[in-house]
Amino acid sequence: MIYGKVEDYLPFLKSLFNTANSFKDIDRSYPNLLQGKIMATLFFEPSTRTRLSFESAMIKLGGSVVTVNDESSSLMKGETLSDTIRTVSEYADVIVVRCNKPISEWGECDCPVINAGDGKDNHPTQALLDTYTINQYEIPRNLKIGISGDMQNSRTINSFYDMLTLDNQIFPYDSTQQTSGSFLSLKDFEEILPELHVLYLNRVQRERHEIVPKNTFVLSEKHLNSMREDAIILNPGPRREELPDHALNDSRVKFWDQVRNGLCIRMALLHHILK
Ligand code: NCD
Repeated sequence: MIYGKVEDYLPFLKSLFNTANSFKDIDRSYPNLLQGKIMATLFFEPSTRTRLSFESAMIKLGGSVVTVNDESSSLMKGETLSDTIRTVSEYADVIVVRCNKPISEWGECDCPVINAGDGKDNHPTQALLDTYTINQYEIPRNLKIGISGDMQNSRTINSFYDMLTLDNQIFPYDSTQQTSGSFLSLKDFEEILPELHVLYLNRVQRERHEIVPKNTFVLSEKHLNSMREDAIILNPGPRREELPDHALNDSRVKFWDQVRNGLCIRMALLHHILK
């Protein structure tokens, strides 16, 4: 089974969030829960948060981690990604993959495979932790969410958007009121900021552009002053100019909460899949 898209996680989303709550104390480990299980990480694109939180999650649950990177894998010798995944499935109980190839090219194997980012398309576990972070706060009906960033190239935006539109239980989100930065000019986007309950800020995906776009949204002191007192501002990281240092002092910015929640959500996910 490939846990490739947000919809693959929806059937167990609520229980996942409950389990994540029980793993929130970052000083605790649970060495008996996944003892003897092996997770393989195959990361063929850069990562800090996603990779290390998956690996730490597995270790905290008592499991072990094996890994390759692109220089040391047989992909460099021309092996197909599906053969690599199938091979690793013989050695591991779960595989976590990040690569630039769509999930349709990952092949099939008996071992569960978790998508940690497939090119521009999906990053479902990021959407899980983003949603989990928002759910720590009271969510109003007709939630208004603004998304800014690289709409064409950002897998975090794609999966976050899938989460909004697929699960109206989690987000009582009124799609008729949807606000999205890609379809608004910067000036118009600034105008809707005071209404937003959630602002999802994303970086420009420089590595996916030949010419880096200019005039992108950068959160200023003035924007922060214009926003609701109970607004939540998220950024999946890595943080660039869109979320400057000064903004991190604002308690509405949940950047570090997201980093922290990445661990307990991934612990809950590995536990759910392997228990
Ligand atoms: C994102 C990614 O790699 O897709 N980061 C992450 O996993 N937290 C976002 C990005 O690179 O912009």
